Amino acid sequence: LLAAGAAGAQNFPGDKPITIVVPFSAGGPTDRVARDLAEALRKPLGGVTVVVDNSAGAGGSIGANKVAKASPDGHTLLLHHIGMATMPTLVRNIPFKVESDFEYLGMVNDVPMTLIGRPTLPPNNYRELTGWLGQNKGKINLANAGVGSASHLCGLLFQNAIGVDMTTVPYKGTGPAMTDVIGGQVDLMCDQTTNTSGQIEGKKVKAYAVTTSKRLAPPALKELPTLQESGLKDFQVTIWHGLYAPKGTPAPVLQKINDALKVALKDPDFIKKQEGLGAVVVTDRRVEPAEHKKFVAAEIAKWSPVIKAAGVYAD
Ligand code: MLT
Repeated sequence: LLAAGAAGAQNFPGDKPITIVVPFSAGGPTDRVARDLAEALRKPLGGVTVVVDNSAGAGGSIGANKVAKASPDGHTLLLHHIGMATMPTLVRNIPFKVESDFEYLGMVNDVPMTLIGRPTLPPNNYRELTGWLGQNKGKINLANAGVGSASHLCGLLFQNAIGVDMTTVPYKGTGPAMTDVIGGQVDLMCDQTTNTSGQIEGKKVKAYAVTTSKRLAPPALKELPTLQESGLKDFQVTIWHGLYAPKGTPAPVLQKINDALKVALKDPDFIKKQEGLGAVVVTDRRVEPAEHKKFVAAEIAKWSPVIKAAGVYAD
C-alpha cells in the first residue's frame, strides 16, 4: 500500500482529473477565483484536466468537509477563503478541524469587499444610507452566503458597528444572492469586488463603501469611501483565498501542487483577470505552505475575539 502510495505520488497527477472543490454556488466570488486558478494550474500540472466542483451549503462548511474527508491523493483540493479562519468561531460543531484536517498548499489572493444595495434603494451614498438605515430599523434585509461566509462576517460586523440589526437572508453563495440584490428582492449585501465590481460598473446595483483601509483604484470603485473614513474607524475586512488538500496527502504530491501554484500565480493572464476584478494576487511568502498555515492560525486568533465581541455566534 505504501509502495503504491509512493508510486502514485511519483506519477502524480497522471491523467486523472484534479477537482477543486468550491464550497459555494457557481457564479460567486469563490467560484470566480477557483475557475481562474484552475485554468492557470493546468499547464504547470502537466496539462491535466482541472475541474471545479461547487459543493455549497452551511456557509462553506459542507464543501470544506468534503475535502477534509476526501482521499488524500492530491486529486481533490479545496479553494476557500477567510471562512477557514472564521468558521471555528462562527459555526458550532463543524465536522472537521481547520488546523489539523487539511494540508496547506499556499495562498492565492486578497480581495476587498464592497457594501452594495439594490438599484431601487433610496439612499445614493453612504451618508444617506446611514440615515435611511436608522429610519428603517426592523425593515431591512441583508443577503449573505450563510453562517460562516465572508459576506456573513462583513454583514455582521457592519450591523454591529452601526447599531442597526437587519434580517439576514442566506443563500448558497453570493452569486445567487447578487441576482436578488439586482432584482430588488433584498436590500443590502457586503460582497467581494470579484463579484460586485462588474455590477457596480454596469450600474446594476448601488455602491456605498469599501471595507478596506484605503480606497480602491479601479475607476468604478475609486469614488467609494472606505467605511473607516465614513466613521467606522476600526472597520477593515479583506478576504483572502487559499488552497488545501486532505491531511495525509503525500509530501511529493503537495510539493508538485505548490510548485504549480507558484507558476500559476505568476501567470500574466491569471493576474490580469484577478486584478481586473479588484483582487490582489499573493506575491509574498504566504504562497509557502508553512507561511499559509501560520497566517490562517493568526487569522483565527484575530477574528475569534472580534466575532465574540460582536456578540455573534452560529445560528
Ligand atoms: C462569501 O460570502 O463567503 C462568498 O462570497 C460566497 C461565494 O463565493 O459565493
